[in-house]
Amino acid sequence: MASKLPVWRTIVGLFGAVAVAGGSNCTSFRFDDYPGAALLGTTLYEQGARVNITNEFSSINTDGLPSFCRVELQVTTNASAGSYAITELWLPDAWNGRFLGFGNGGIGGGVNVADLGYVAITHGFAGMSTDTGHNSSAVDGSWAGPGNDNAIIDWSWRAMHLSVEVGKAVVESYYGNSAAKSYYLGCSTGGRQGLKEIQRFPENFDGVVLGSPANWLSHLAPWSVHLALDALPVGSPHSISDDLWVGLIHDEVLRQCDGIDGVSDGIINDPRVCNFRPETLACRPGQNTATCLNLDQIQALHRVYSDYYETNQTYIFGPYYPGGETGYIGGMVGTAPALGLSTDVLKYFVLNDTTWDYTTLNYDVIKLAEQVFSGTGDAIDANLTAFAGPSHSGKVIHYVGWADQIISPGNSLHYYETVHAFMQAETGMEIDDYYRLFTVPGMQHCQGGYGANAFGGSGQAAGGMPPTSYNPENDVVSAIVAWVENGTAPDSFIASYYNNNDFTQGVNFSRPICKYPRSLRYTGGDVDAPTSFACV
Ligand SMILES: *[C@@H]1O[C@H](CO)[C@@H](O)[C@H](O)[C@H]1NC(C)=O
Ligand SMILES: *[C@@H]1O[C@H](CO)[C@@H](O)[C@H](O)[C@H]1NC(C)=O
Ligand SMILES: *[C@@H]1O[C@H](CO)[C@@H](O)[C@H](O)[C@H]1NC(C)=O
Ligand SMILES: *[C@@H]1O[C@H](CO)[C@@H](O)[C@H](O)[C@H]1NC(C)=O
Ligand SMILES: *[C@@H]1O[C@H](CO)[C@@H](O)[C@H](O)[C@H]1NC(C)=O
Ligand SMILES: *[C@@H]1O[C@H](CO)[C@@H](O)[C@H](O)[C@H]1NC(C)=O
Ligand SMILES: *[C@@H]1O[C@H](CO)[C@@H](O)[C@H](O)[C@H]1NC(C)=O
Ligand SMILES: *[C@@H]1O[C@H](CO)[C@@H](O)[C@H](O)[C@H]1NC(C)=O
Ligand SMILES: *[C@@H]1O[C@H](CO)[C@@H](O)[C@H](O)[C@H]1NC(C)=O
Repeated sequence: MASKLPVWRTIVGLFGAVAVAGGSNCTSFRFDDYPGAALLGTTLYEQGARVNITNEFSSINTDGLPSFCRVELQVTTNASAGSYAITELWLPDAWNGRFLGFGNGGIGGGVNVADLGYVAITHGFAGMSTDTGHNSSAVDGSWAGPGNDNAIIDWSWRAMHLSVEVGKAVVESYYGNSAAKSYYLGCSTGGRQGLKEIQRFPENFDGVVLGSPANWLSHLAPWSVHLALDALPVGSPHSISDDLWVGLIHDEVLRQCDGIDGVSDGIINDPRVCNFRPETLACRPGQNTATCLNLDQIQALHRVYSDYYETNQTYIFGPYYPGGETGYIGGMVGTAPALGLSTDVLKYFVLNDTTWDYTTLNYDVIKLAEQVFSGTGDAIDANLTAFAGPSHSGKVIHYVGWADQIISPGNSLHYYETVHAFMQAETGMEIDDYYRLFTVPGMQHCQGGYGANAFGGSGQAAGGMPPTSYNPENDVVSAIVAWVENGTAPDSFIASYYNNNDFTQGVNFSRPICKYPRSLRYTGGDVDAPTSFACV
């Protein structure tokens, strides 16, 4: 491995002494001696240069980044099958000495160039992302075959794992010094990929930040299909239109639930404490059906707001929570793609039947999915001893929006509690010492929605919602660094809501995000000020 010896200097940064490399040569960088990885090319971007890159999964188009070197690699994942992943390293000139890996989303195949630019390069991390071994949008599963097992394994964990290893070697070769600490940021499938790494390869990361992980894929996909069956076919008695969700049900949910946290502001701070009763919306004789619900619709609402039990009395997945109604019809059937994505997962990965009709979903499909995804797509191991125990002392920050319309927040609670119980019984370790879960009022899947939702999570800055600062209290990435390197564990964050979720329109209000299982309560004063709220 050829490497240019960088000129080292030391600055006193937020976290003490940080080594900064200068003088590394992007255009002459070579990476020849690593088995199973080939350098495809390097591109130097000077400060302020236009970075305009698009792939099937992710895109970036900005001239606001500091100078960096883009390194593109082909990483062999199974030589005998000829399978490989495309992996990129984005290496800032003003390096903070740390490695930061990023995850993907859905069943997409494409390097996460958005987070590489808007998180790694803006923060000074050496960033890494892989296409997971295939090329597709986030909602297209046809690449998986049926029967394309190498592609499925690559997407499940292998491309990420090999890319982390190669990526660290590239960093060392480029800067002449290995990263002092390694971090990870991902949401949704990205959250699942991060969990898979710490469960399977606990040495790889010192700290991970995980949003709403799709880690129980074998249950998530059937749950999404089940939700769709509660909404389809359009026009059937139980089907609930977009207008009813937004104009009627959401308003009634707010009427029943919004004030419980002390302020009626359109945000339900903790939906666990509201027992929403849809019966109040039942049509009276002669009432206009645009202003009320029939009995089938009320039963459908009970199903989507409650844990889903088969007649076998098996826990399948968490429910929708009251408050996210404006996103739920999209999550169930339409504009947000949960149904198509989940149907593809079951068709191409589990049943190997491209003609499978999702209305035939039954419990046997879930049992088969559990078998197929055990060891691949599922990342549900509760044993984090190797990662979090004294030999490694890894840390997890996990976040989820209460209004998540794609993956029930109940899934995040369920995994966290599974780890909590297992680890306490197995090791006596206190979960707060290594794993903290934060619930975000009003936030939809990974980002957006109505609530204080900007705090440095995956995709947020790229989506127009950057953290208001890189202080650990405003930014989850800075917080995981402070926890790992300084021992300062986060108790809460201060997140912001930008007008129309667009930072160019200014901050509308800022609020704390509480550590689970605490709830956010209004304590009096200016509702736009974070000091008017407390985690109780
Ligand atoms: C980087 O390497 C190229 C090719 O070897 C060379 O032409 C260029 O002068 C080098 N730039 C710096 C800043 O060292
Ligand atoms: C970005 O690239 C696309 C083609 O990939 C091009 O159409 C577009 O004009 C570019 N935008 C800017 C601002 O350069
Ligand atoms: C590599 O691919 C070949 C051909 O598909 C397969 O037989 C073999 O099991 C794969 N190896 C691994 C480690 O996945
Ligand atoms: C990915 O697929 C798209 C559309 O089929 C194609 O335009 C693009 O070149 C492919 N990218 C790679 C890296 O193969
Ligand atoms: C579909 O293929 C996968 C391997 O890719 C296998 O595990 C699964 O059992 C197959 N499903 C059926 C219904 O045969
Ligand atoms: C209950 O579980 C058994 C065994 O997996 C399965 O055959 C049966 O279809 C399930 N019943 C229902 C109603 O799903
Ligand atoms: C949990 O993981 C640790 C470390 O890898 C291992 O020693 C232990 O046996 C595991 N516990 C169980 C119950 O599998
Ligand atoms: C590091 O820890 C000290 C005390 O433990 C604390 O005062 C300080 O704010 C922490 N710094 C960061 C960046 O978290
Ligand atoms: C916050 O949003 C409300 C409602 O749209 C608006 O009236 C108010 O001016 C906004 N405040 C700020 C500071 O932008």
